[in-house]
Amino acid sequence: MDIDALRRSISGDIGADLHYLPEVGSTNRWLRDRPIGSIKHGTAIVTDYQSQGRGRQGRIWHAPSGSSLLLSIALAWPPDIALAQSVMMAALAAKDALRRETGLQFELKWPNDLLLNGKKVCGILAESGNYMSPGFIIVGIGVNCNFDVAEIPVVLAGATTLQTESGRPVERERLAAELFRQLEVWYRSLNEYPDMVFTAWSSCLDLEDQIVVIEDASGVWEAVVTALQPDGALRVRKHNGETRLVYAANVSVRKQPRGFTTP
Ligand code: BTN
Repeated sequence: MDIDALRRSISGDIGADLHYLPEVGSTNRWLRDRPIGSIKHGTAIVTDYQSQGRGRQGRIWHAPSGSSLLLSIALAWPPDIALAQSVMMAALAAKDALRRETGLQFELKWPNDLLLNGKKVCGILAESGNYMSPGFIIVGIGVNCNFDVAEIPVVLAGATTLQTESGRPVERERLAAELFRQLEVWYRSLNEYPDMVFTAWSSCLDLEDQIVVIEDASGVWEAVVTALQPDGALRVRKHNGETRLVYAANVSVRKQPRGFTTP
């Protein structure tokens, strides 16, 4: 990663205090472990390789060295705004940045993935807690860029890379700079019009009234999405009429026309 080129193209708060390590365990963890008082709004860490990259629900996040965008950002976070809103904001920022840099269209997948041609290309992991500087959260973003998933068995099935889908490599420094710019825009929106971020996120997901297949700790089941909540949860109704809130699961839309009803 040409970190000087990236530094030169950053003009806002996000990424202004930019750290680079050729290799690190996890960028989220590195940021989390900074001493209290040493990070500010927008402090970011970028790496070329993570030996213990972390995904949601204890999964690993793997990318070959020098192939991808792996970064985390500390954001000043008002206590009254749910952590889930940072994922919504980051997903919208990543979607805009990726579209601007590649010209391709990306879809959001609940709760925090970006898909390209139906396959996962970007994941987001937001974290907060007492163990880190008070008033901050960490948003970690991984974008699969310039490698072939078929050659890397450790990368989850159903994933892809920008290069695989577009046939050409992306310039990671440009993509990172655009991502920082879009995060700046969406972070401002979140502070000024928090409802707008939720509305934009939920309309991109387009899940309301859809029949979904939910895979969670209790098994695999189907339900109709009745609403998305500002805390990121899915409100669903099972076929027996029972209503549930889903916070953590793999959710996919069952291919079925809207309005279809099951007995
Ligand atoms: C997921 O989809 O499960 C979330 C993946 C998040 C991966 C990124 S890569 C940079 C940052 N550091 C980490 O350890 N994880 C996030």
